[in-house]
Amino acid sequence: MAIRTVITWGDPRLKLNSADVGDWSPELDQLVADLFETSLEEEGVGLAAPQVGVNLNLAVIDTSCGEDPSQKLILINPEIVHTEGSQIGPEGCLSIPGIHEVLERPKKVRIKNRRPDGTWHEISGEDLLARAFCHEIDHLRGRLFVEYFGPVKRQVIQRRYQKQHKAS
Ligand code: NI
Repeated sequence: MAIRTVITWGDPRLKLNSADVGDWSPELDQLVADLFETSLEEEGVGLAAPQVGVNLNLAVIDTSCGEDPSQKLILINPEIVHTEGSQIGPEGCLSIPGIHEVLERPKKVRIKNRRPDGTWHEISGEDLLARAFCHEIDHLRGRLFVEYFGPVKRQVIQRRYQKQHKAS
């Protein structure tokens, strides 16, 4: 396993649409292990392959942040099939370190997801998991959570972000 470099806001690779995962391979097992390790190292809830510069429809989620192995999920070519209700809460992203903003997301989300062996299943998530599904699937479509805000607010966030990262 290895910690990979997480690319950050402004890198054009974060804006690409990713390609579907085809046949599973040992390289993909390695990528998944690296994504889990990198996410844990950065204290994230999830990480998508495009964030380490690999434009594949692949992401990992662990809402327990390494506390409970049964919470580890691998998303492969995932698609949202149903959403319900809404939740309002803070959201952050390992590609936009230091920025947390309140964003409305569905309360419940059901996704269709492929397993490494090529079979499909559905997973339902509520609250934090529902938010993570939306956030990671957005990454696969080239979308960052700050893009939900209007241009004025986005500019304020961007200035704050640039200031923070110039100082450090
Ligand atoms: Ni993110």
